[in-house]
Amino acid sequence: MQRDQVFELAWILPSVSIPVGMLVALVVSAYGMGMHVPTHVGTLDPKLAAQTAPFDNPGVRQISADRYEVVMLSQIWFFRPNEVRVPVGSEVTFITTSADVMHGLKIQGTNVNFMVLPGQISRATARFKEAGEFLLVCHEYCGVGHQTMSGKVIVSPP
Ligand code: CUA
Repeated sequence: MQRDQVFELAWILPSVSIPVGMLVALVVSAYGMGMHVPTHVGTLDPKLAAQTAPFDNPGVRQISADRYEVVMLSQIWFFRPNEVRVPVGSEVTFITTSADVMHGLKIQGTNVNFMVLPGQISRATARFKEAGEFLLVCHEYCGVGHQTMSGKVIVSPP
């Protein structure tokens, strides 16, 4: 093998192995470890969102001793419900969809932060380890009432 071929091979091998390594990491994290974006857990007709289960009955439900589920309908320009009360230490799963345009959901002090798209059901879970009030806001501009679209999670002390 000539010297320039060795040099070329020294570049070809890493430039192939790096994307292959990335692809392996992607496949392992998505299928092996179950990592995914907190969206696309289901679809529905956004025009019928308010009549479609579970969004026909939005609210907070206790699942077990320290686990709660919040079914929340997002629409211009409010969340329903817009006030969630849970005791400190609770693990809360938020399930939401948009009945009209693109909204967002961000909850202060948690990693809940995603887009809420019409036709798509989104879900994310957070544990509230400290008592207090945590703002939840729409963070996608959704029209003239966007700035009023907010609510709060009230975490009560034991
Ligand atoms: Cu909904 Cu901004």
